Amino acid sequence: MKKIIIAIDGYSSSGKSTMARDLAHRIGYVYVDSGAMYRAVTLYALRHGMVSDGKVDKDALIAALPEISVSFTPAGSDGVQHTLLNGEDVEKEIRSMEVSGMVSPVAVIPEVRHHLVALQRSFGEARGIVMDGRDIGTTVFPDAEMKVFVDASPEVRAERRVKELKEKGEDVDFGAVLANIKERDYIDTHREESPLTKAVDATVLDNDNMTIPQQMDWLMNLYEHTIHDK
Ligand code: DC
Repeated sequence: MKKIIIAIDGYSSSGKSTMARDLAHRIGYVYVDSGAMYRAVTLYALRHGMVSDGKVDKDALIAALPEISVSFTPAGSDGVQHTLLNGEDVEKEIRSMEVSGMVSPVAVIPEVRHHLVALQRSFGEARGIVMDGRDIGTTVFPDAEMKVFVDASPEVRAERRVKELKEKGEDVDFGAVLANIKERDYIDTHREESPLTKAVDATVLDNDNMTIPQQMDWLMNLYEHTIHDK
């Protein structure tokens, strides 16, 4: 069967990573979490003293880009993969509030985006890939055969994020998480380079009132139709 490229874009904490990973697992595709790549570069900047007073030293980070490689471990039997920063497993560190708080300013730097977009395109060369992010259907793979734009209200997304972080043992305040989500939405949709926007040919999935199994059915349905039409 013909392998396609599936692009899943949407707001932060809209549940797109979970659904993209589950879809890839179910149809035997490779899954790439592009947000994890921006998070890994942010962790690199934090660890190398390139952030002070909430500001990123852009020149230092741009100069270091050739030394920054981001990759993923192969998916386990449950479809879960870990993010590697220069070969080191940083899956846990990149999900911290510290990284979440700095990732948007890092992701607005055009050179960082070019570096990661080139890597993302190389992952898609063999097709048979599900990639989630903000600009996958618009910039990384404008020719993707299936494009989904995931939408959900900031409050619902904050609730889900608090639950997820609590399950991981991080004690967080709902207000702080909601503020972080709203701030990231603003930066993601207002940046000059590849702002978060729905591709004209993307199908919208509003998952405010949907369970994970319902979303999966919705996605599988769209996938079957897309493959059928090819
Ligand atoms: O999906 P996420 O919350 O893990 O993404 C982290 C940040 O990375 C998010 O604030 C915006 C940025 N990002 C991006 O600019 N482009 C992408 N393709 C993916 C993520």
